[in-house]
Amino acid sequence: MNPLSVKLRRLSLNNPILVASGTFGYAREMTAYVDFPALGGIIPKTVTPAPRAGNPPPRTVETASGMLNSIGLDNDGFDQFVAEKLPYLASLGTAVIVNIAAKTNDEFLRMAQVLNAAEGVAAVELNISCPNVSGGVDFGTNPELAADVVRTVCSAGPLPVIAKLTPNVTSVIPIAQAVADAGADAVSLINTFQGMAIDWKKRQPVLGNVLGGLSGPAIKPLALRIVWQVAQAVDIPIIGIGGIQCLDDVMEFLVAGASAVQIGTANFYNPQLSSQLVTELTDVLQQEGVSQISELVGTLTLPDRGN
Ligand code: FUM
Repeated sequence: MNPLSVKLRRLSLNNPILVASGTFGYAREMTAYVDFPALGGIIPKTVTPAPRAGNPPPRTVETASGMLNSIGLDNDGFDQFVAEKLPYLASLGTAVIVNIAAKTNDEFLRMAQVLNAAEGVAAVELNISCPNVSGGVDFGTNPELAADVVRTVCSAGPLPVIAKLTPNVTSVIPIAQAVADAGADAVSLINTFQGMAIDWKKRQPVLGNVLGGLSGPAIKPLALRIVWQVAQAVDIPIIGIGGIQCLDDVMEFLVAGASAVQIGTANFYNPQLSSQLVTELTDVLQQEGVSQISELVGTLTLPDRGN
């Protein structure tokens, strides 16, 4: 058996290293740099039912150990994705997890039905957590709405369903519990933290849309905390996301309770990182004396406080 293989309920992956939506385009951009079959899977940029022009520029700004983005789900629309981008993605020899966002359950259902009938889709990731558009994130901040959309998409066919959740709530646990009860195969934890950058000399926000989503190493401790808390409370596979830039970061997420991870912001400055991490993971299994990566998941032990 492949020692790096991962099972997220109905979704099987060759290894736990995925590339995060919005950081890898639709993969064509990365062709010269990345050994696609080495990856556990690719999650292309979110697609929406109709084309979206996205938010006004500037849309990104570098911050201390991270970046803010406010892209606004700029994309060419679902039909164009299926006709022109999906066939290329499906030819790459790795799992393709299609990330979708919509404003209604009916829109989610239509896209999920088409994806269930399409060739080469391994799973659907629901973006119910984008901080930069109105509407979609409402699904992800309300447990009932989040559960409804998961149930709706599950009803479209057998494709595994992953819910990508927002950290911009008091607690992610009730939302993770709701989507688990509704049949989700996994949760992706977490999307970006809402933030802002200010040019004080101009007395203006830097981003055209004022607020944006913070990602990168700055958020790793926050993401680890949420992964760990959800892993303690909810019985559902977790895909950890948040500032991963080296093997130790991957291992921290696995030990905290993630079964797989997504590499995001690091793709912008090192598109080869993900495939490098797969190689390094194989070595770490030998060093740790384990035969399966799953043996390391959730192995965090807490200090004995003696009370
Ligand atoms: O603005 C954006 O397109 C970001 C999307 C997301 O964080 O899900």
